[in-house]
Amino acid sequence: MTDINPYDTYWKDIEEVYREDPAMIEHTRRVYTYALRIAEELAVSGEEKHSALLAALLHDVGIVEAYKKYGSRDGEYQHREGPPIARRIMERKGEKETTRERVVFIVGHHHDFSQVDGVDFRILVEADMLVNLPELLPDSGRWADFIEEFFQTNPGKNIARETFLRGYDRDGNDVL
Ligand SMILES: [Fe+2]
Repeated sequence: MTDINPYDTYWKDIEEVYREDPAMIEHTRRVYTYALRIAEELAVSGEEKHSALLAALLHDVGIVEAYKKYGSRDGEYQHREGPPIARRIMERKGEKETTRERVVFIVGHHHDFSQVDGVDFRILVEADMLVNLPELLPDSGRWADFIEEFFQTNPGKNIARETFLRGYDRDGNDVL
């Protein structure tokens, strides 16, 4: 029996949304891959794993519209533009309403870390941070403290340490 990955069908929609900004497709792939790894290492299953992975796929879908309408990719505008687009895509895939609304909530708040209210949302913000950290915090000397504070799941913290701290001591000095 062939194992069909239900998330594969989303890539066509994602490619369509980011037609004018293909770097976002690569960003989405990376966030999705981290989200899947964190969810599996945490042994999160069922509905929470599903909403975490859908959120990873759809979290930034408002970015193109935000830029078109407001000339800005700021979180505030993404939070406004992303939910209707994410909802439309999930409706077409036949996702049930509770799933759609949960994912839309995450998409509409994902830059506001104070809103994180469940493991699915946490997986998404940690996966997104694993991709964005070097850009958000260009000074590698501050990575160690940031990682200890920001990452709350063991897999997220471990991946961040392995990815960003290998070769640096806690003060960010290159030790290789
Ligand atoms: Fe993102």
